[in-house]
Amino acid sequence: MTASSSSGSVQRLATVPTAPPDAILGLTEAFNADKNPNKMNLSVGVYKDASGKTPILNCVKEAERRLVDDESTKGYLGIDGLPSYREQIRALVFGDQLPADRIAVLQTPGGTGALRVAANFLVTQLSPIRIWMSSPTWANHPAVFSAAGLPTETYRYLGSDRTSFDLDAMLEDLNEKTSPGDAILLHACCHNPTGIDPTADQWKEIAKTVSERRLLPLIDFAYQGFGDGLDEDAAGLHTILSTVDEAIVCTSASKNFGLYSERVGAVSLVAGDSAAMKASQSQLKAIVRANYSNPPRHGGAIVAAVLEDAELTAQWKVELEEMRQRITRLRNQFVETMKSTGKGHDFSFLLPQRGMFSFSGLTRMQVDQLKNEFGIYIVGSGRINVAGMNEEKMQSLCDAVAKVLES
Ligand SMILES: Cc1ncc(COP(=O)(O)O)c(C=O)c1O
Repeated sequence: MTASSSSGSVQRLATVPTAPPDAILGLTEAFNADKNPNKMNLSVGVYKDASGKTPILNCVKEAERRLVDDESTKGYLGIDGLPSYREQIRALVFGDQLPADRIAVLQTPGGTGALRVAANFLVTQLSPIRIWMSSPTWANHPAVFSAAGLPTETYRYLGSDRTSFDLDAMLEDLNEKTSPGDAILLHACCHNPTGIDPTADQWKEIAKTVSERRLLPLIDFAYQGFGDGLDEDAAGLHTILSTVDEAIVCTSASKNFGLYSERVGAVSLVAGDSAAMKASQSQLKAIVRANYSNPPRHGGAIVAAVLEDAELTAQWKVELEEMRQRITRLRNQFVETMKSTGKGHDFSFLLPQRGMFSFSGLTRMQVDQLKNEFGIYIVGSGRINVAGMNEEKMQSLCDAVAKVLES
């Protein structure tokens, strides 16, 4: 359909409908416009320190100072990014579990870019293929996969109590519904949106089923270091890799390096042998070339500068641990403060949850009430960004939650 203006020129854009606002980032727009002085944004997945800021890590600042002095060019990177960054990510994610010549690492614009390149690869190289995602999952997963033309399906993950992981239901769905060769999306740690991760034994059972069903794991590892520690958080991934020959891993430096706006991540493809790795790597590069050509340098250069320097790496680990411990403290404090409201609100099911997010069990209506009456912004599913909480505002947050639970 085309329309014409009074001047007679064609107006193709006049018929374009408005897209719905993004479920999560749209809430931030509403938050910014909210005049309530006590407003709290617990929706978008960004870490905040005690002063409410999303800090630049000291190790990052120091790496940037060094880059200003030492960087000698702003010329294009290769299609697959900075070699030193790619090497450091390989070591951080895979350790020495697999020979390097079976792994192709490409630097990407954030973890989202990694997921999109992976989805394009599955569609162009391995079709017909579907991807199975946990229900629930990060809202952008189905959006990214569908945009690449990758058919999506879901497996059960959250128990009917909405507070626990239902391994039996997950395995039943994988055993009964998947076809050999399908892809399965797994969250390596800090499951978004529930914060509920499988235990080590449960990972073993998942790995066994993934291998028996001949599924291709696509592992989203956006929160390494935000759960229990860098190595601990990689344990589930390593369990999976011990039972399969092939996998794709998408990582992000947004959270663990605080490099949200630098857009730095990686897609790593594990193949059965070096020849298969090289062929797949060439296809990944072709996808990138036709998409954004090559990744931005700065974020990758920062990560490489930190991880190549023993002192900066040590500093990074301390700063990462501080963020991780703060999130745990806030989660515990929320549970305690809810208890202290004296209305029998037991949120102790949150305690084993890991990472930025917790599934609160709040209903859509309660979430709306929190926003409209108290200026507290939580995603409609009841997902709370624990990392956005604040000690000083904890009491008023818990009073508001108690109020909506009682009304
Ligand atoms: C599960 C998950 N995967 C991937 C990402 C992508 O991160 P980014 O593109 O910001 O690096 C996020 C960010 O919130 C996430 O929560």
